[in-house]
Amino acid sequence: MSRMKTREDSPALRPESVRKDFPILARTAPLAYLDNAATTHKPWPVLDAMTEYYCTSNSNVGRGYYRLSMESTACLDQARLVVGSAIGARSPHEVVFTSGTTDAMNLLADTLGRQRVSHGDRIVVTGMEHNSNLLPWRRLCERTGAQLMVVPVNAAGRVELSDFEAAMGPDVRVAAVSHVSNVLGTVNPIRELAVAAHRHGTPLVVDGAQAVPHWPVDVADLGADFYCFSGHKAYGPMGVGVLYGRHELLSTLPPYQVGGGTVKGVTFTAPVDYVPAPERLEAGTPNVAGAVGLAAALTYLQDLGWDAVRRHDEHLVRGLVDAVGDLDRVHVIGDPAGQPSGIVSLVVEGIHPYDVGGHLDRLGIAVRCGVHCASTFLDDLGLVGTVRVSFAVYNTESEVDRLCHALATVRPGDWTRDHPTTRFL
Ligand code: ALA
Repeated sequence: MSRMKTREDSPALRPESVRKDFPILARTAPLAYLDNAATTHKPWPVLDAMTEYYCTSNSNVGRGYYRLSMESTACLDQARLVVGSAIGARSPHEVVFTSGTTDAMNLLADTLGRQRVSHGDRIVVTGMEHNSNLLPWRRLCERTGAQLMVVPVNAAGRVELSDFEAAMGPDVRVAAVSHVSNVLGTVNPIRELAVAAHRHGTPLVVDGAQAVPHWPVDVADLGADFYCFSGHKAYGPMGVGVLYGRHELLSTLPPYQVGGGTVKGVTFTAPVDYVPAPERLEAGTPNVAGAVGLAAALTYLQDLGWDAVRRHDEHLVRGLVDAVGDLDRVHVIGDPAGQPSGIVSLVVEGIHPYDVGGHLDRLGIAVRCGVHCASTFLDDLGLVGTVRVSFAVYNTESEVDRLCHALATVRPGDWTRDHPTTRFL
């Protein structure tokens, strides 16, 4: 499959005009929505594609010998083709639709676990993982007696190749790492990590949830064996995600959930004859409208111009990091400047992140505050939490200005006074 092209010559992105594509941004109170790492808003082309699917093609897929069902099946096939092409898969058969990154990671921990992990083996993760790329592997270790190895994160907020290599060995059966830290926005050297993992015959699983919305990820170029992401963080709908798997490995995975759509034939007693991947790993009725919406979202990003998207995200990150440099009590955690992930984590000296978040909310600015589903990483950073700002294609320089003015006026509140060490989100 030929993957989507980056338009190196693309003009700069014009967020004021992009905003018209997103109906929710027309709410009357001017909302500076800066929590895009949690979920992005959805543009008309995504909403229209899903509505059209439901209005014209809705029916179950792969199960009906009538025209409407075949049309619906063609919609799913086409979505798989578009999504696979967008991420550099060699074939649409390498794309499994899941309900999101979490579902994809649970699928992998279950199937790779049953296939290749047993007592005394080791599984490698990193110190920056989101719970969705930590807990499935932890549980697998608890279940099998394997040992979880945690690769440290350096002062800039990245995994060092040498630390990763030091953790590897012939008994490491799976390595699972984030492409981008959802806390700091820092980017890991996946290509190098993949080479190091492969030296030991270890498959590399990548959590790409925070990368796919920001640049044209190419799974083959990265050398990732498995790559997972969510639709809803990439301008697509909630409830759909992707597990990419390199054919040689994906085709050998045992079924995860079993049920309708996964078998060629079944009796009450004889061994079950399962269909090949990806359908073998998609038990039950798939989220066809979600897949259609995700394909429309990735096409929308391609039409905006990946190069323009990347430059826009880098520009806002750099602008915020520079502006925060002028605010005495506000500090950037890690080193996100120059990274295209659109994420900046901040702390305000002496003020609990929830007090900062409440203050920003009262001024119409939405950010995520706390541990970002990665409390183990926040423990390592020695922080009660951070204020995470995360950008999307519709964010503007004036929103960065608004944010910085608001940060300059924040004062300690109830959280700082009464619950200075409490955290839960
Ligand atoms: N995983 C999402 C985040 O980091 C929800 O905010």
